[in-house]
Amino acid sequence: MKATVLITTLFSSFAIAHPGMGGVLEDIKQLTRRQFQPSTELLGDLKTLPNNALSTTGAAVKAILQGTGNPIDTASTYTAPAGGRDAQACRADRCCIWKYIANDMRAVFLQNGQCTNAARQAIRIGFHDAATWTKTTPVGQGGADGSLLLSNGAGNAKEMNRGENAAMAPTAAILISWWNTYKNYGVTMADLIQFGAKVAAGSCPGGPRIRSFVGRVDNPNANPQGLLPGPGSNASFIITMFGAKTIAPGGIVALLGAHTASRQTSVAGVSQDSTPGKWDLTYFSETTSSTPTNIVRFPSDINIANDPTTSPVWNQFKTNKAAWDKAYAGEYIRMSLMGFNDINGMVECTKVLPAVPTRGHDVNFLVRFIQGQQ
Ligand code: HEM
Ligand SMILES: *[C@@H]1O[C@H](CO)[C@@H](O)[C@H](O)[C@H]1NC(C)=O
Repeated sequence: MKATVLITTLFSSFAIAHPGMGGVLEDIKQLTRRQFQPSTELLGDLKTLPNNALSTTGAAVKAILQGTGNPIDTASTYTAPAGGRDAQACRADRCCIWKYIANDMRAVFLQNGQCTNAARQAIRIGFHDAATWTKTTPVGQGGADGSLLLSNGAGNAKEMNRGENAAMAPTAAILISWWNTYKNYGVTMADLIQFGAKVAAGSCPGGPRIRSFVGRVDNPNANPQGLLPGPGSNASFIITMFGAKTIAPGGIVALLGAHTASRQTSVAGVSQDSTPGKWDLTYFSETTSSTPTNIVRFPSDINIANDPTTSPVWNQFKTNKAAWDKAYAGEYIRMSLMGFNDINGMVECTKVLPAVPTRGHDVNFLVRFIQGQQ
């Protein structure tokens, strides 16, 4: 009897606040949307390989894609063996050459305690090489395959000729020069681009040290067009487009956070938040604010910030740096693997990544201080 009374009371109080069960279900949906939810869809060979066939790397990537593995590693370190990059000992360790590449990249991506124009372009190059892919793209015809910088046909058959890639030409040239040096060591353009995007994000003070895997295969042919959004795109278009790439709405918000380091080159270098040299939360709050007035807010960013499907996560990231960093790292790893099938055959080289600069005073500050310039 008591239980019946209780249940009746419960239901009638629900009924007052929410007419009908649809209201309750809608509330539960709203609650789960308030926090970031990663996509858990698998990619490439991980979709079909049984767990007992997974390599160490395959298992690690699978856990990251399913939201249980940590996509960030701040602890691992590496010292290259003596003798330089041509030494036998270096050639014997698949990750060794990446230590030299990481050092070259860091010198270009971090200057005066801020991440540079080359860093922001490298982050976007990683996105534009990888995201020219959907779940229905045949293997070998799209994704993180180096085609952004390798394709060299006429007109749109060279991806760098496409309008959306024009602003990244200066850093494309730097990546191509690195590739010309390091391809002799077995480095693919596809790996170089994704590694570069991660070193670049981790060169912005406060950025995440994103786990890095190598082994991607190059494709000299241009990927399909029309798979990248534009700055005027509406929320439903962007959500559908990223959904076809296995990225759920929260993942879009996480990835868009890269605009914390962004400058719109085509409009005289105007940035998307007031601190483009740092990896911070300013972008999330300034996109939905009318101040400052001297930044450019893309309509697409405003649309995602305000859409009911994505705005709860947007608001979560305004104040939760750790949640955003983890989400960004996980979603970026997902994007960096798009279109590549042999994930189980990859090798993890996170250990060679430089330490991330803190947002406090750095070595450059000390140098300026000692020189009396500050
Ligand atoms: C709806 C999705 C997106 C749209 C519509 C978009 C659009 C744009 C546009 C129009 C620019 C300025 C280009 C210029 O004039 O120089 C830009 C810059 C940038 N974007 Fe996005 N973006 C999107 C998602 C992403 C994602 C997923 C990433 C990386 C994970 C990213 C990283 C960047 C970076 C780092 C820049 C700065 C480039 C520079 O300063 O040279 N964007 N984006
Ligand atoms: C969003 O953009 C797409 C593509 O431009 C268009 O077809 C669609 O009608 C737009 N939707 C809304 C709700 O404006």
